[in-house]
Amino acid sequence: RKGKTPEEVVKRYLQKVRNPPEEDCTICMEVLAGPSGYKGPGVGGISRAESVGRLAQCGHQYHLQCLVAMYNNGNKDGSLQCPTCKTIYGVKTGNQPPGKMEYHVIPHSLPGHPDCKTIRIIYNIPPGIQGPEHPNPGKPFTARGFPRHCYLPDSEKGRKVLRLLLVAWDRRLIFSVGTSSTTGESDTVIWNEVHHKTEFGSNLTGHGYPDPGHLDNVLEELKAQGITEEECLPRD
Ligand code: APR
Ligand code: ZN
Repeated sequence: RKGKTPEEVVKRYLQKVRNPPEEDCTICMEVLAGPSGYKGPGVGGISRAESVGRLAQCGHQYHLQCLVAMYNNGNKDGSLQCPTCKTIYGVKTGNQPPGKMEYHVIPHSLPGHPDCKTIRIIYNIPPGIQGPEHPNPGKPFTARGFPRHCYLPDSEKGRKVLRLLLVAWDRRLIFSVGTSSTTGESDTVIWNEVHHKTEFGSNLTGHGYPDPGHLDNVLEELKAQGITEEECLPRD
């Protein structure tokens, strides 16, 4: 999609390793000094000299063939995530279906946040047909419980979380298509790895307030998706 082959994308994030160590590649569990244990389609033609690479930022080493296979199993968005330490190379995106994200301030306080108003986010995603980035391309997906309403305190930290959620939405990381762990339904829109509070004045589901750690947890979950305030600030 980006006009680069999977091998070219992966290599962009790698440094050469001249003498592969006698350690195992944690993708295929075979020794790095030997061949990759992965024998799938589309990974042939990798020369011995470049059979192992080191991820430039975190330093973890893998067979090039194993990284290419891992990349091909994902949504091939030009980014790569180290399977050991989760460092993200490039910009990670997800497979959230098309829809709308809106928000506004409501003049009421959340339990545990008596000194500020509340931000209500409204997500709306209609049902549709799965694309090539989804588990069953061409098959319909359902969308239950939309519009979904979510709440954040309208505090400095709550507004920061909102800014980062807007970035996560643009990168299609808030929802995914798959099997709901709550209902067991497959081929449906589900929350991705960033927790939201969907209850306002009560906490019957565990997805309500008060929850003193919530904003910090969400910031950690956003970071795991490659979204931080530092990274989102304009650069010069
Ligand atoms: N509110 C917020 N988050 C939830 C809820 C909820 N009511 N239920 C589950 N989650 C969280 C789970 O803790 C998990 O981390 O979403 C993640 C994925 O869970 P699934 O059950 O697979 O997600 P999904 O089917 O999208 O949600 C179930 O959430 O907002 C409601 O209407 C929605 O009833 C549905 C429920
Ligand atoms: Zn390997």
